[in-house]
Amino acid sequence: MSAARALQPAAGDIQRASYRHALGRIPTGVAFAAARAPDGSPVGLLINSFTSVSMDPPLVSWCLALTARSAPVFTRATHFAISVLAENQQTLIVALKRPAEDRFSGVPIRGGAGDAPVLEAAAAAFECRVFSINRAGDHDIFIGEVTSFESGADEPLAYLGGRFGQVRVFA
Ligand SMILES: Cc1cc2nc3c(=O)[nH]c(=O)nc-3n(C[C@H](O)[C@H](O)[C@H](O)COP(=O)(O)O)c2cc1C
Repeated sequence: MSAARALQPAAGDIQRASYRHALGRIPTGVAFAAARAPDGSPVGLLINSFTSVSMDPPLVSWCLALTARSAPVFTRATHFAISVLAENQQTLIVALKRPAEDRFSGVPIRGGAGDAPVLEAAAAAFECRVFSINRAGDHDIFIGEVTSFESGADEPLAYLGGRFGQVRVFA
């Protein structure tokens, strides 16, 4: 049995490396969460914690690290937008990982609900009104009520174990 396979207690002083390895076995999509600061400047960050919560009403959630520079803007904003990256937007990752002050330069966006920035040509986009924010450890869980959404035919970008890739579905 490999070290990563051995059953390990998650409580208390968890071994970060092996816990991260286990979390890295969860395949996700990649999205860009964005909002508008009171001075009109856009803020946003790459996330992979995005998921659907409820169909009626339509609710989605994502988690924001309390240490994120944009956290004060998100916690005060009335709206946010989630843009799900398409496979052919892989090159945008470099831009969206830049320091916050340069993150939007040259990135095509439009204003969604509450003027929250939405990435053009995303695989899907969800414009949301903030429904609730709940503190959970070192993150805040944002739940948004979807006020409008869009999706295209492009395949979504996948993320697994720190790497970006393609989704391969069985027939
Ligand atoms: C693929 C990927 C997924 C990420 N998912 C999250 C996430 O779900 N929540 C989060 O707070 N940070 C996440 N991050 C980290 C933030 O994008 C990163 O720390 C960012 O610089 C924070 O922006 P800010 O400090 O300028 O606000 C992720 C990063 C990557 C590359």
